[in-house]
Amino acid sequence: MNFVSHLECSLTGERYPAGQPLGVSAAGKPLLVRYDMRRLGDAVSKAELAGRSGGLWRYWEFLPVAETGNRLDLGEVVTPLIRLERRLAAGDSGELWVKDEGRLPTGSFKARGLCVAVAMAKELGITHLAMPTNGNAGAALAAYASRAGLKATVFCPADTPEVNLREIAFQGADVYRVDGLINDCGRIVGAGTEAVGWFDLSTLREPYRIEGKKTMGFELAEQFDWELPDAIFYPTGGGTGLIGMWKAFAELEAIGWIGSKRPKMFAVQSEGCAPIVRAYLEGKEFAEPWENACTIASGIRVPVALGDFLILRAVRDSGGAALAVSDADINECQAEVATSEGLLLCPEGAATYAAYRQARLKGLIGSGDRVVLFNCATGLKYPMPEMTATFDAEAPNAYARFRAQNKK
Ligand SMILES: Cc1ncc(COP(=O)(O)O)c(C=O)c1O
Repeated sequence: MNFVSHLECSLTGERYPAGQPLGVSAAGKPLLVRYDMRRLGDAVSKAELAGRSGGLWRYWEFLPVAETGNRLDLGEVVTPLIRLERRLAAGDSGELWVKDEGRLPTGSFKARGLCVAVAMAKELGITHLAMPTNGNAGAALAAYASRAGLKATVFCPADTPEVNLREIAFQGADVYRVDGLINDCGRIVGAGTEAVGWFDLSTLREPYRIEGKKTMGFELAEQFDWELPDAIFYPTGGGTGLIGMWKAFAELEAIGWIGSKRPKMFAVQSEGCAPIVRAYLEGKEFAEPWENACTIASGIRVPVALGDFLILRAVRDSGGAALAVSDADINECQAEVATSEGLLLCPEGAATYAAYRQARLKGLIGSGDRVVLFNCATGLKYPMPEMTATFDAEAPNAYARFRAQNKK
């Protein structure tokens, strides 16, 4: 059982029937899943939800999977909100929280989208999935496809971190390095739908990953007792999570669980790949491809986003902004939060903290605002500074020298 009524082109509004494999709309734009919100609202209450355990399947009424048996479970959790008490500027009275998505299976928020998309693929009888990825999405696809007994083929830019390539392979997918960026990998996947017959699971080229990602919005609303925060900073590549949360908030308002107040949505990119920021600043509806994309935050090295206009709409409608931060700032922020708060952010997560500081300086958010930063992946999969210290307890005066060196 589900509450899906139809699918809809995100640009033209053209309707499509549910219950069959679909890619993009006739206009070449993402399809969004629409639900019978009246029936859905009658079927579930906040109190009932509060009594449920588990992760994203707690929100099953808001998800497209009809058969309970098709729900995939690798131990998804409601990710914690961790308060950064000491990172507020002096005199600020607000709240700064990190939603730590690194606690999900395969160590990133990509688990949400792929958990639901692979479950839907299974439900629709699809047997072979393919995807371009900068790493984390491929790992999540590999894990959930193996769980579902489906075949997965993954294409990565050649410089994708080794750890991601290996985790994808080790969790059962066929993975290939490609001489190019994620959009070049995407072209290979697109061409292979005809030539090989696999199903294209690229970001926003199928309608269900965003349904999984939108559960970040439900969780936030529930964690803040149905009072949304004032601002959300989201590291934006393809933008599925940002678009997904925006959709989640609209669905919650449609059933009367929240009001019309929305957080300011901040799309955070790296200065080395900032197509959305450039379009935002130029007042454009769509973004131009970014040339020579280059950043240490590989998850947001996305030169072209199919959902560009949806990201830009959410950012503008919410009164937020699109902000670019430098790799140097990302490194500095990652180190600052790790050493002073004990929280190891991924580079993309650190970018949101850098953007928060920038927004605060520019007056884009207030001193009393309640702000959420998204740490989309565990920091453990990324390079860390070299550690060179050794300790030889047999060396003369080893402990005396240690004491002398560690005097405060
Ligand atoms: C750690 C991390 N952060 C952010 C992103 C960007 O996510 P989205 O495509 O939803 O914008 C990715 C995507 O690969 C990622 O791996």
